[in-house]
Amino acid sequence: MCGIVGYVGRQHAAPLLVEGLSRLEYRGYDSAGVAVLTSGKPRVVRTVGRVRDLEAAMPKRLAGTVGIGHTRWATHGPATEANAHPHASEDGRVLLVHNGILDNAAALRERLAADGVTLASDTDTEVLAHLVSRSEATSLEGKVIDALRQVTGTYAIAVLDADHPDRVVVARNGSPLVLGLGEREMFIASDVAALVRHTSQVVHLEDGELATVTASGFHTFTADAASVAKTPETLELSAEELEIGGHQHFMHKEMHEQPETVRRMLTGRLDDRFATARLDGLQLEPRELRAFRRVKILGCGSAYYVGQMGASMIEDLARIPADSEAASEFRYRNPIIEPDTLYVAVSQSGETADTLFAVREIQRKGGRVVGLVNVVGSSIARECDGGVYLHAGPEVAVASTKALTHMAVGFAMLAVALGRVRDLSFADGQRIINGLKQIPDQVAAVLEQEDAIAEVAKKVAAAPSLFFIGRVRGFPVSREGAQKFKEISYRHAEAYQTSELKHGPLALISEELPTVAIVPRDDLLQRNIGAAHEIAARRGPLLVVTHDGVDLGELDAARIVVPKNEDELDAILLTIPLQLLAYHAALSLGHDIDRPRNLAKSVTVE
Ligand code: AGP
Repeated sequence: MCGIVGYVGRQHAAPLLVEGLSRLEYRGYDSAGVAVLTSGKPRVVRTVGRVRDLEAAMPKRLAGTVGIGHTRWATHGPATEANAHPHASEDGRVLLVHNGILDNAAALRERLAADGVTLASDTDTEVLAHLVSRSEATSLEGKVIDALRQVTGTYAIAVLDADHPDRVVVARNGSPLVLGLGEREMFIASDVAALVRHTSQVVHLEDGELATVTASGFHTFTADAASVAKTPETLELSAEELEIGGHQHFMHKEMHEQPETVRRMLTGRLDDRFATARLDGLQLEPRELRAFRRVKILGCGSAYYVGQMGASMIEDLARIPADSEAASEFRYRNPIIEPDTLYVAVSQSGETADTLFAVREIQRKGGRVVGLVNVVGSSIARECDGGVYLHAGPEVAVASTKALTHMAVGFAMLAVALGRVRDLSFADGQRIINGLKQIPDQVAAVLEQEDAIAEVAKKVAAAPSLFFIGRVRGFPVSREGAQKFKEISYRHAEAYQTSELKHGPLALISEELPTVAIVPRDDLLQRNIGAAHEIAARRGPLLVVTHDGVDLGELDAARIVVPKNEDELDAILLTIPLQLLAYHAALSLGHDIDRPRNLAKSVTVE
């Protein structure tokens, strides 16, 4: 949510900033801006729209080797040039970019206005620029500390001051910030995606830390001005992984990467000798794994739905109670944290604020929380007490696909590991391990049906509203299918338990409302087929996502057939055609698939 970049060095900052912003555009894309110090004078360019609009608005010559930039996802005030970052102090000498939300911005705006300050935007961020500028401290570091003492909320900020032209001062509290180390140059970004082309040496700031960044390096410190020693880490990510390749959209690329990325994820983690999964990163001994009496999964959006798939796998295989809850609700209901519950935070970005705060709430109350996280070194990954990296590689499209598949596979491994220290037999453990080994080829087999799914998608996209239905293991599949469809097609899509239709929503079924029904070949097959017939009898158009060998009788329905795996693992594969369905529906509607309206990839505000 909002992307920040900064540069201090020997090259011209402006093109580097714009290029960095284009890599962070998935974080927000309603407006963008940069500020550069040219011969000590701040020059600011801001535009409404995408980073490409900013690029078009950039003057041909914008010299200067120190600068900051921002791509925005609006929180306070609409997407206008005045609300775009960087924000400036009244004299224009202090410039600031911010990611996060200041909770007491309204009170501070009032106070500044009462002091005679003219506020130029509707944003919370602007107050910080004024507070920095009005501080009586002599150093920029002192001014920033003074300003931050007055605000509450979350932030990652980068501050330029024409009176201190050799540096950018940055600070972090609740929003990610990373420094990239170059040769006589330094990079600043919300995410390593903006740095990886320039350096592989990075330093992550922790909450409560600030840093002075100059061409010759960085100095990290706390608000009490105590120095903090940092050892740079080497990035494992390569620049090529962030390229779109021959695909029209990142979402398309990411769906098609799944067979290979899942294969890579499984490598070295499936143990045939003991018919279990090896998840050393959890840092839990078998004795500890066995002591948990319950599992609680926390994630947001699609990660929460995949958490529901995971909970069902854990109950099936380990026979301990498990459930998944929206992390965004969790900490506000004063949750009961139990010492014998294993808490699992699941997140692609590892930066989702709601999930991160849930982790902290659990830890604050003494609970044990592990992460299922994709982005290495992200906040959630670092703050959890152990975890499993998803190894899906970078995911750029706002609509998550491969990371979710990796989450589901990660939960299957966790379920088998929990099961094998309990009553899951060797034979059943091996059955699941063998099932997991088939997943990459089976995902590839679903992806091969893309053309046929695209045809169905075009028809489905014509309807303004649709149902996605499934039951028990199929219900989270339908929730995720509806979510994906909504995000990028902007069509209303509602997920429902198949069993609940007759208790009310069946009234909505008509020729105008298609239903996507998840009908796996398992012990609920006949019940699911029965429900599909009830919909058809009311003239509801049907698309059935099912397995080979399923006899739907006389049912008038379009059909997508996915390979059968073990019942406990079926949800993983049933989700894949729904990704393609949403993608091709959105494509036929002409939408901006990788950057759907109103959304951002990484939701770092509450
Ligand atoms: C998925 O398509 C969505 N964009 C969204 O629901 C996402 O899964 C959610 O915001 C959680 O993100 P995270 O996995 O990075 O924590």
